[in-house]
Amino acid sequence: MRYAVLGTGIVGRTLASKLLELGHEVTMGSRSAGNEAATAWASDGGEPAHHGTFRDAAAAGDVVINATAGEGALAALESAGEENLEGKVLIDTSNAIDHSSGFPPLLTVANTDSVAEQIQRRFPRARVVKALNTVNAEVMVNPGMIDGGHNLFIAGDDAAAKAEVVAFLAGLGWAADDVIDLGDITNARALEMYLTLWIRLMRRLGNARFNIRVVRAS
Ligand SMILES: NC(=O)c1ccc[n+]([C@@H]2O[C@H](COP(=O)([O-])OP(=O)(O)OC[C@H]3O[C@@H](n4cnc5c(N)ncnc54)[C@H](OP(=O)(O)O)[C@@H]3O)[C@@H](O)[C@H]2O)c1
Repeated sequence: MRYAVLGTGIVGRTLASKLLELGHEVTMGSRSAGNEAATAWASDGGEPAHHGTFRDAAAAGDVVINATAGEGALAALESAGEENLEGKVLIDTSNAIDHSSGFPPLLTVANTDSVAEQIQRRFPRARVVKALNTVNAEVMVNPGMIDGGHNLFIAGDDAAAKAEVVAFLAGLGWAADDVIDLGDITNARALEMYLTLWIRLMRRLGNARFNIRVVRAS
């Protein structure tokens, strides 16, 4: 499979490297074709690792992963080009964090909207699935680092796209039973607002190597 990873931060680089390990071809996208992190990543990754602009990456991928800062996601995808997103599964890992008032950060969008919905509205022919934004990059690609079953959540309007994402997540190590489909794309609001709890848990626990498990009475 050919993946476009839009984003050169820790999430983009971690997911992109894992996908290479799994035998996929990956193009990492950035605002500039000469981005230093993307250039270094591609050089380390060898032949199946490429880098370029957001547009280059989206054009090259069968599946597009949005790993850009949430507040820049729409701009990044605009650069990627609507025609390069049409009909493709678009996995949105972003959180829209506003650090301007210090800790704890606020969200730039919440309650009645989400980044994932903004993306789906702007690109109606992309098959947007919110996923992975509730765990840190290390846990995304190595869920087994945390003992016991723990959950990941997805949301999106396209059932077939969500099934593809569950299969993609299985490749990263997430058991299908541990992936909870919350329903349509409006449920991304809850996944993005979870950041407000996640960030407080991280401060309390002292690191980002944790996740939550949903338990219910039998
Ligand atoms: N860090 C984690 O473990 C973690 C966990 C869960 C979810 N997330 C979410 O995953 C996403 C990526 O996180 P990250 O920590 O890897 O990196 P990040 O610093 O949040 O984002 C880096 C990427 O965003 C792009 N970007 C920033 N501002 C932009 C703008 N105004 N227009 C277009 N592109 C812009 C950058 O482009 P350039 O390449 O051109 O610089 C870069 O590729 C974020 O939304 C984050 O909230 C992060």
